[in-house]
Amino acid sequence: MLTIALCKGRMLDTVVSLLQTVGLSPSEDILDSRQLIVSDSTHADVRYLLVKPVDVPAFVQYGAADLGLVGKDVLYEAGADLHELLDLRSGICKMAVAGFAGTDIARVHRVATKYPRAAREYFRERSQQIEVIDISGSVEVAPLVGLADCIVDLVETGRTLAENGLVILDEVGVISTRLVANRSSYQLRAKEIDPLMDRLRKAVTGSSANLPVAMSSREVTA
Ligand code: PRP
Repeated sequence: MLTIALCKGRMLDTVVSLLQTVGLSPSEDILDSRQLIVSDSTHADVRYLLVKPVDVPAFVQYGAADLGLVGKDVLYEAGADLHELLDLRSGICKMAVAGFAGTDIARVHRVATKYPRAAREYFRERSQQIEVIDISGSVEVAPLVGLADCIVDLVETGRTLAENGLVILDEVGVISTRLVANRSSYQLRAKEIDPLMDRLRKAVTGSSANLPVAMSSREVTA
């Protein structure tokens, strides 16, 4: 059984479409059902775990899943011991410093974020001492109520920032979904993983050439 960990939530339909383009067939109700372990309709030896994005690295690192599809933002924060195989070029968004227009980043002190590691790294590179306030969601509220001077968060459409009167102050990097593998599975199950990885690579790049994982020199890298 090849077990693939997928993120529940807004990116799931994109990931399911990508899997379908490479010949896999997650059961049709994967997007609606509350089942957390879902079989593949055409491959009896493939199944999917539906878990929170933040938990995908742990499922893969400890071998409960052989493969995982998860955002680079989550991977970077987790710092998990696993193989990052491929940039799937989907789920693309920005990680950004955001706040009220006119905020001088050089003067911020308190930074609210779901991404403390990325935030610390960003300000460390600027040799700027900050206090990170770890918030698990709705981070945009923090500057609105004076909890933080700015946030470090993901921006996809920009709607959440705009509707809360905030703007991007600086871009930290580009985020996309990655294919990751458990280290043992990658060695022991190469016969199954390599062809799948090759099909995914062709699907996302139109070529089987071995592409660098990073999409941008400014990318958040582990
Ligand atoms: C993410 C992110 C932003 C929002 C950005 O939050 O943290 O808040 O999406 O998307 P947009 O640019 O398209 O508006 P998410 O929806 O995952 O919820 P959360 O605030 O509970 O983390």
